[in-house]
Amino acid sequence: MFKAPRGTEDILPEEQSYWRYIEEKAVATCRLYGYSRMDTPAFEEASLFARSVGEGTDIVNKEMYIFKDRSGNELALRPEGTASVCRAYLEHGMDNLPQPVKLYYFADIFRYERPQAGRYRQHHQFGCEAIGEASPMLDAEVIQMALSFFRSLGLLQFCLQLNSIGCKECRPNHLHKLKDYYAPLAPGLCDDCRARLAKNPLRLLDCKKPGCQAAADEAPKSADYLCIECREHFESLKRYLGVLKIEYTLNHRLVRGLDYYTKTVFEIQPLDGGSQSALGGGGRYDDLIAGLGGRPAPGIGFATGMERMVFNIKEYGIEVPRQEKPAVFVACMGGDAKIEALKTASELRDAGIAVVVSSGERSLKAQLRQANTVGATCAAIIGDDEIKEGTVTLRNMETGEQQEVQPDDLKRMLGAQQ
Ligand code: HAM
Repeated sequence: MFKAPRGTEDILPEEQSYWRYIEEKAVATCRLYGYSRMDTPAFEEASLFARSVGEGTDIVNKEMYIFKDRSGNELALRPEGTASVCRAYLEHGMDNLPQPVKLYYFADIFRYERPQAGRYRQHHQFGCEAIGEASPMLDAEVIQMALSFFRSLGLLQFCLQLNSIGCKECRPNHLHKLKDYYAPLAPGLCDDCRARLAKNPLRLLDCKKPGCQAAADEAPKSADYLCIECREHFESLKRYLGVLKIEYTLNHRLVRGLDYYTKTVFEIQPLDGGSQSALGGGGRYDDLIAGLGGRPAPGIGFATGMERMVFNIKEYGIEVPRQEKPAVFVACMGGDAKIEALKTASELRDAGIAVVVSSGERSLKAQLRQANTVGATCAAIIGDDEIKEGTVTLRNMETGEQQEVQPDDLKRMLGAQQ
């Protein structure tokens, strides 16, 4: 028997109402904030991600699904959405539009990670990007948008973690201090941290291994090494968040796992902490567009994990609208009744009434069981007697009450029920 590949999941019909609920709330939030939807391909040139997410990151080094197509092009299934949106922004000349350009997407994302609760090899994101504006006012609005989206879902038990990791001017100074600080501690660090110390010392700050926690807690903080511009940006952002009455926790260990970030980074995490289960995260990426060869344009965005939202919606018992069930199940017995059932079902559907029609040779009892399973409110039963009389038996699936009705009346009666 085949199984879904490790780290992937089927989204079964009974799960779909959660996904539709999240999508609807996401679309409604984007409308309120003036974002337009776009979709990008599931795969891109692999070098796009190496250039943007960064050569030194786990995502690019260890987690990308890379393959050569039959023409020898090196492609990668997208391990995140921001790089693709920025590539499209440049490719379609969106830098010539009034800035910032505000875009959102739903995308399946592929990362070869060690599967565990809330961590998949294919997951789904709802993400937003605002490109072409450097003001911290936009940072505040993007954060507000992410939070109001979670609130609209009913997810209130989460907190905003915030940090600034500076820019290419001030970060080297911080990295230098980090290297100096960690050098004597290296023998006590985990293998990953030791390996990252030379290449990407910022990532030591978000190591989850117990043995590395104390060192990370005491490590030099990026916020203490910001240049004047980054400091002012961060201070303005905090002021705007205050105006918007948005609470946040400053977390100097929040660095994010993608290299394109500059200045603001943030995550929405469960109150009990743990970025492993973050519902969403994002930040500013002011050098990314230029790094892809475009005219420099700053940007900021966030993405949220759909699977994690579904999990939490269930966990907190949030009621989601159920998917619409068919109004009527058409049951039939015998060859002539089948023809009548097909015609009846077509007419009802033409009138906009949702119908499931029985197509096999099962007994009436089995057909009515199916009517229950599909959640039909009533069953229209057509057998030899009904054909003889030119009627249909209409059964209320909840009460079991039955009545003979004229086919012409059926539409009106079912329409009235909807
Ligand atoms: P990210 O933090 O890597 O950011 O992913 C965003 C969200 O996707 C996470 O907060 C989490 O909810 C979910 N997620 C990530 N990895 C997995 C996984 N393996 N399984 C299940 N859910 C997962 C980005 O991808 C950036 N592109 C966000 C961004 C947009 N920054 C600026 N603009």
